[in-house]
Amino acid sequence: MPVVAVVGGQWGDEGKGKVIDLFAGEADVVVRAQGGDNAGHTVVNSRGRFALHLVPAGIFHPRTLCIIGAGVALNPTILLEEMDALHQRGVETSNLVVSERAHLVLPYHRQIDQAQEAARGKAAIGTTGRGIGPAYADKVGRVGLRAADLLDESHLRARLRVAVEQKNDFLRRMFGASPIELAPIEAELMSAAARLRPYIADPTPRLASLVLAGKTVLIEGAHGVLLDLDYGTYPFVTASSPAAAGLLLGAGVGPRHLSHTVGVFKAYQTRVGAGPMPTELDDEVGEAIRTAGQEFGTTTGRPRRCGWFDAVAARLAVDVNAFDSIALTRLDILSGLDTVKICTAYELDGRRIETMPVRPDVLARCLPVYETLQGWSGLLESARSFDELPLAAREYVKTLEALVRVPIGLIGVGAARDESILMRSYP
Ligand code: IMP
Repeated sequence: MPVVAVVGGQWGDEGKGKVIDLFAGEADVVVRAQGGDNAGHTVVNSRGRFALHLVPAGIFHPRTLCIIGAGVALNPTILLEEMDALHQRGVETSNLVVSERAHLVLPYHRQIDQAQEAARGKAAIGTTGRGIGPAYADKVGRVGLRAADLLDESHLRARLRVAVEQKNDFLRRMFGASPIELAPIEAELMSAAARLRPYIADPTPRLASLVLAGKTVLIEGAHGVLLDLDYGTYPFVTASSPAAAGLLLGAGVGPRHLSHTVGVFKAYQTRVGAGPMPTELDDEVGEAIRTAGQEFGTTTGRPRRCGWFDAVAARLAVDVNAFDSIALTRLDILSGLDTVKICTAYELDGRRIETMPVRPDVLARCLPVYETLQGWSGLLESARSFDELPLAAREYVKTLEALVRVPIGLIGVGAARDESILMRSYP
């Protein structure tokens, strides 16, 4: 069976954590493939509510092998904090493997991220400030440190010393910033390295044999396709590829083995950080959605920008990923609105267009063209079949499915794992 990839279809925060947690119970392996602690998955299960940033959501299932893959930007300190928090609540992490190839996010990356954002002024990207972009820049620049470097203390000390010297030079020249001190970073990293060593390995051959043996592998995406470095609303994007192809590469699984790609979409749309969002609602409806959905970032706590579902943007995500099915999350949040809208096209300088312009300044000029539908009221949490949904909610889902042209396989009607309507069986 099957290798299943779960991909965010929008600007992140689509509720992938819940979908992943739902599938993880069936999976032999769960792999986190890209991104770093800029991502946050909220998982609500019988043990409570957990905000995960780096640890794969399969961690709650002790028999599931959890891999932090080569494509991940790994902050060792954050990973250890997350593991400690899990241990304190009785969740074991002995089933976790960290790829030797994962690049490290170190304190100077955060400092550079924040200095670059400040220097951008009005053009700031609104990054999470976690140092993810600078860490990936080091990876591409071929100067990054990787988890493999944590395995040998003297080698690690030498590499870190050179890196800190280079970063200090960069920070001083570019931003006139005062130098970072080596000693505290070194002390923190040496102690993190000692604790993480038992978890670090090259999972590639093991994963390849598990795939060949027909084991179930779930590849969990972080962020969303509209934040993809290549296909997102550049430069207001993250520094990795949250698309299905990026997940395969980051996990180390060949495309031939991918059997099902689930695109996760919220029933509406949210965005954190800067950059154009044509359906953004800067009014009381947007506020109502934010309040009902508690739309505040898992990682930064920032209020998320809320708006109507954008089918133009969704079609871009479909084109890039060829989703086999869609998981539509948080339908319950739209309950209680008189009318609901779906953006079916944009109006650009008086012309109707049906594809997303590539330049952000052009996208910012696009006005949404809406199809307005009847709203519905009442709690949806107890619905377990499509027919149990109010008629208007069913109409909404059907309209959305027809616009996006991918079958909806799962509908989220509440935060808990079982508050879902399964419309198909998953491979
Ligand atoms: P960075 O990933 O911290 O460099 O931030 C780049 C952009 O991606 C900013 O607009 C962030 O708000 C956004 N971003 C990064 N990770 C997430 C996420 O997990 N959910 C939503 N937005 C994110």
